Amino acid sequence: MLLSWREISVGDGRPISTSLTEAETCELRSLAVDGRVVEVGSAYGYSSVVMGQVAEHVFAIDPHGGFGSLAGDSLAHLRANLAAYDLSHKVSVVVARSAEVLSGLCRAGALFDLVFVDGDHRKDSVRRDVELAWWVLTDGGALACHDYREESCDGVEAALDALFPEGPSRLVDTLWVKTR
Ligand SMILES: C[S@@+](CC[C@H](N)C(=O)[O-])C[C@H]1O[C@@H](n2cnc3c(N)ncnc32)[C@H](O)[C@@H]1O
Repeated sequence: MLLSWREISVGDGRPISTSLTEAETCELRSLAVDGRVVEVGSAYGYSSVVMGQVAEHVFAIDPHGGFGSLAGDSLAHLRANLAAYDLSHKVSVVVARSAEVLSGLCRAGALFDLVFVDGDHRKDSVRRDVELAWWVLTDGGALACHDYREESCDGVEAALDALFPEGPSRLVDTLWVKTR
């Protein structure tokens, strides 16, 4: 599957650039309902808004300048999109790399209902994000990783297949979901 970037509105709101499909969006939204959520890789904020509308709270981690960062000032777009969707109070923007934030959350013993990984798609980075994410999930919590078997992101499949040879609990387009 090859995903394309395009502008999509969440409901009646302003369009946000993303590569998430409609089916992935629905799955992500249902996983986030009433949950405490960590997002790795926010870019312009499409997934942050989708989850922020239904979650208890979302921590949106992105260095906005790391590997694979996107055109333009993604941080400014993210903040503007959160404000436009009236979600600035429910989505905390964390400008940092995932490894340092997730390591800190592990050390603090923090727990979350959903971790959505859509950051640095290189194999070793995905592997590190997923290993750390697993430690901050509640029992019954969900790990969701974007771009599994996406044609331009082979590091995601390589990392996830190495860590979880038994495969995901669910696969929706390229959204790989494992329940803890
Ligand atoms: C594919 S985009 C995310 C798309 C977004 N989830 C959406 O809904 O459209 C990947 C993002 O990961 C970010 N990123 C790169 N390295 C990262 C890291 N170490 N930690 C967190 N985010 C990272 C990039 O800056 C980029 O904004």
